[in-house]
Amino acid sequence: MTADSPSPRPDYARLLADQASLRGRTAFVAGGYGGIGEAIAWGLALAGARVAVAGRSVAKAEALASALGAAGHDAFGLAMDAHSTESIRAAVDAVAARFGSLDILVNCVGIQREQRQALLRQIPVGRFCEPEEFAHAVRFLASPLSGFITGEILDLNGGLLMD
Ligand SMILES: NC(=O)c1ccc[n+]([C@@H]2O[C@H](COP(=O)([O-])OP(=O)(O)OC[C@H]3O[C@@H](n4cnc5c(N)ncnc54)[C@H](OP(=O)(O)O)[C@@H]3O)[C@@H](O)[C@H]2O)c1
Repeated sequence: MTADSPSPRPDYARLLADQASLRGRTAFVAGGYGGIGEAIAWGLALAGARVAVAGRSVAKAEALASALGAAGHDAFGLAMDAHSTESIRAAVDAVAARFGSLDILVNCVGIQREQRQALLRQIPVGRFCEPEEFAHAVRFLASPLSGFITGEILDLNGGLLMD
């Protein structure tokens, strides 16, 4: 290569793939077998993270973990009640003990349906977010793709709040 030759173009495909990967990271999705939580759990697992899912039903959490495991992902389910600080602490400790670390924490615990109907009437686009749309945003924020973003709040609200 001479002094005049252009520098080699970066391998953007590889750079982007590396930056989007969550390989080696661990995640805990509370409310993880609900509509949004399940999509987020799959999104994180497909990006390479090890994933724990929890809700008040250990059977439902384990069923989702089994489905993730059958697809080749490292996942486990456990019970947690978000109304109990003790239960939250125990669940976080259990996940950290099982995985050896806890990098990504997602809270998807549901609120009441009646509150959701009142909320829907105020959303300009006239619909709630699709579960996968939440999953894409979580995956982006959890990955090195967002490495230069700190302390930001990302609004996924169909125009309910605009900057
Ligand atoms: N879809 C949208 O566009 C949209 C937009 C804004 C906000 N949200 C909100 O996002 C949240 C998640 O939505 P979703 O559609 O995934 O709800 P969902 O299907 O009802 O799932 C809620 C999850 O939270 C768990 N959960 C409920 N109470 C819990 C508790 N006390 N402790 C631990 N886990 C608990 C549920 O499992 P168990 O009941 O078995 O514990 C379930 O896994 C809801 O609050 C929803 O209102 C949704």
